[in-house]
Amino acid sequence: MTTPSLDPDDVAPAVADLDTIVSLSKRRGFVFPSSEIYGGINAVWDYGPLGVELKNNVKRAWWKAMVQERDDIVGLDAGILMHPQVWVTSGHVAEFSDPMVECQTDHKRFRVDELPGAEDLGPSELLDPGIIERLGLRCPADGGPLSPPRQFNLMLKTHLGPVEEAAAVVYLRPETAQGIYVNFKNVQATSRKKLPFGIAQVGKAFRNEISPGNFVFRMREFEQMEMQYFVRPDLASAAFDDWLPRRRAWYERYGVTPSRLRFREHRPDELAHYAKKAVDVEYRFPFGWKELEGIHNRGDFDLGNHARASGENLQYFDPATEEHFIPWIVETAAGADRAAFTFLIDAYREEEVRGEKRVVLGLHPVIAPYTVAVLPLLKKRPEIVSLAHRLRDDLARHVMAVYDDTAAIGKLYRRQDEIGTPWCVTVDVESLEDGAVTIRDRDAMTQERIPVEGVLRAILDRLDAARP
Ligand code: GAP
Repeated sequence: MTTPSLDPDDVAPAVADLDTIVSLSKRRGFVFPSSEIYGGINAVWDYGPLGVELKNNVKRAWWKAMVQERDDIVGLDAGILMHPQVWVTSGHVAEFSDPMVECQTDHKRFRVDELPGAEDLGPSELLDPGIIERLGLRCPADGGPLSPPRQFNLMLKTHLGPVEEAAAVVYLRPETAQGIYVNFKNVQATSRKKLPFGIAQVGKAFRNEISPGNFVFRMREFEQMEMQYFVRPDLASAAFDDWLPRRRAWYERYGVTPSRLRFREHRPDELAHYAKKAVDVEYRFPFGWKELEGIHNRGDFDLGNHARASGENLQYFDPATEEHFIPWIVETAAGADRAAFTFLIDAYREEEVRGEKRVVLGLHPVIAPYTVAVLPLLKKRPEIVSLAHRLRDDLARHVMAVYDDTAAIGKLYRRQDEIGTPWCVTVDVESLEDGAVTIRDRDAMTQERIPVEGVLRAILDRLDAARP
């Protein structure tokens, strides 16, 4: 008998093998490799019909919690391309890099902190020219000798306008946050928000990651959901402490198992160049505990630097105390892809039903790609098919509803279970006589007969009841 572990961090992942999720995603149309017909492009993934619904639902749920339900937070959608000086001022041109080594034989490149044997090194050791030899580190792919470490900047560049010259270089933003900082004055003046208040944004970010991988966990093109909360300097620490449990609770609110979430504070030597303090919300992925979201106290680093570099006055005037000061910033920085991936992994379960394996994505109904599937029991009966179509059309005015008649009913249920659809509505021969249909619940697998006119209300009521 094995003794149960007392370590709270010793938690099994929802899925032992990441391939289970990768193959489900491909098979059912959640995520495809980008440009697959040309052999794909490393670290870029495309969201299929189900994946785009899932990710849109995640982004909507985040926006609801962070903007719609908050009187003190407003939204923004800034451009991906910004004045190049933004990235000099923000410190990204000089500092946004990872120590990298190159194999002398196969020329593959690796992040030093991801080499087996180097995981616990501090930042200065990671860049120590003698570290590779001292620790006897070799190429993980072919065992070849490795170059000494050097810094590799993660920003992707392009040229703006028709001339590809140095003066035309612009960066694809590596974080959405800077679009918020440079708009601080515009948003504050037009929204007339008083401190403390926040600005939230969802959008693409790009990083030339040295070692991307683990499916959509680390990509070169991805989406962030970031919120910057502007506060009086003396209240930044309290605001930071307030946001931590709120952000963790958001994942739990939409179904992530609480024991698979934890906080991890950054050591001083691993803090990003802009951060005074940082705590990650981590999730127990199949490949270990990893960052899901970062909460950062950025102090006056960003607004202070932008004020100095641009010459603009980015101070806030507090009418209550008649003081002028640069607000401090508490940032909550989440990834839309990483969050969607987490909901997908955590929802996965296999169970045995009447001697057969049933795969279920127990996704929260608000997050699930389809809210309801309408299934005709007999596709050869035109009256049944037409009633099912009519029902789907009615439902589709309010929720994502899908019609499917491409298999026998048992198989149709299994398919919807596997993509997380919380409710199926079945139209059968009796429906034509008694005007009633069956609603089947994904999790309990119970079936309830209700009049056709009551289906929309029943689905909306169930959705409301599930809403956190
Ligand atoms: N503005 C602060 C910032 O960007 P970060 O911790 O570097 O902080 C925030 O990124 C979140 O963005 C991460 O917690 C993660 O969810 C997501 N993210 C970062 N890099 C990513 C990548 N290469 N692929 C997918 N998601 C990524």
